[in-house]
Amino acid sequence: MDAALRAALLEDAARAPSPDNAQPWRPRWTREGLTFTLDAERARHAFDHAGGLTDLTLGATLEAVSVAAEARGFAMNVSRQEPGVRAELRFEAAPIPPGAAERLESLRRRATDRRPYRGGDVHDDALRVRLDRVRRPPGVGLHLAPPLTGAAAAWARAALTLGWHVTGAWADTARWARHTDAEWARTRDGVHTLSLGAPGRPPPDWAWSPRVAGAAGRLGADRVWAAWMHHLLRGAAGLLVVSVREGTRDARVQAGRTLFSAWLELTAHGWAGQPVYELGAPFTALPQAPSLPPGTPARFADLYRRGRPLLAAELGLPSGSWPAWVLRVGRAPATPLPRRTLRLAPPPDAIGAW
Ligand SMILES: Cc1cc2nc3c(=O)[nH]c(=O)nc-3n(C[C@H](O)[C@H](O)[C@H](O)COP(=O)(O)O)c2cc1C
Repeated sequence: MDAALRAALLEDAARAPSPDNAQPWRPRWTREGLTFTLDAERARHAFDHAGGLTDLTLGATLEAVSVAAEARGFAMNVSRQEPGVRAELRFEAAPIPPGAAERLESLRRRATDRRPYRGGDVHDDALRVRLDRVRRPPGVGLHLAPPLTGAAAAWARAALTLGWHVTGAWADTARWARHTDAEWARTRDGVHTLSLGAPGRPPPDWAWSPRVAGAAGRLGADRVWAAWMHHLLRGAAGLLVVSVREGTRDARVQAGRTLFSAWLELTAHGWAGQPVYELGAPFTALPQAPSLPPGTPARFADLYRRGRPLLAAELGLPSGSWPAWVLRVGRAPATPLPRRTLRLAPPPDAIGAW
């Protein structure tokens, strides 16, 4: 791979999603291959208390590299992985597999869409065929289900208030809010507030202060938020869920790869997706009992304990499995997103030698 190819591959791989577009995995080519190292300061978030989001993000990043490499005639192997620290990738020339160009195109087009969707049928045969192609490592399941109903929907609505009650979560999210085009274009990370999908104008700057948000949460903004998400979930085709049987970090990286690969298939099918942290990630920290960020009110531990069997039954998960990452999915809105997220330039020494 010459320097131009290495640079092009990094540019495509950078389209992998990360929480709040923090982009915590920093790439660098070495003589052996490509290394990703965690930038712990970028990854810092109350919701990442057991490395759950970081692991899912690494999985999505590895899948993005694999898609970008395959389309150029290279097979990727993970030669060494220390979740939460680094991953080392090796490449060898290989025939271009069927569908590789379409997957690369989806990688370039995919974006998180937080707006209402235009329904969609989760039993659509063409979509099922696409999802059947997605690689599922042992212990990782992929499920596409219609919107939650009954007790599971009521459970989800209560769980969706979580973010307003975890100490520091608002501040950790607000640090990635980009309010103006100038700030968004300069930083090339974070999320433009115009892309947050809420109806009407985005909140003014002062509303992002943790004190204002805390007060709003106590006055019922948590329930308004949950009602809005509930509305979005009901109007979607349903949920795409990746499940795991083990709570290991490696299982979460694998789950991230599988879900991202499925997200690319949905994109090719003309569907949109939005991760919904509260419905999946809190389950992945500990297999036996839900582990929530420090400072979370005790009632949420009870809530998540009840939620596991409810979701497992409603989503048809095999026994002993639980959701690790959940996306709301459905037919994409006809109009383009107001702003797409940008990506950081690679570190100066990233292109290196190979
Ligand atoms: C592990 C993970 C969890 C995420 N959780 C949420 C979420 O709960 N809600 C949401 O709206 N977006 C969520 N996102 C989407 C990111 O905000 C999004 O990927 C990022 O801003 C980059 O934008 P893009 O996906 O459009 O490229 C999550 C992404 C990842 C990788």
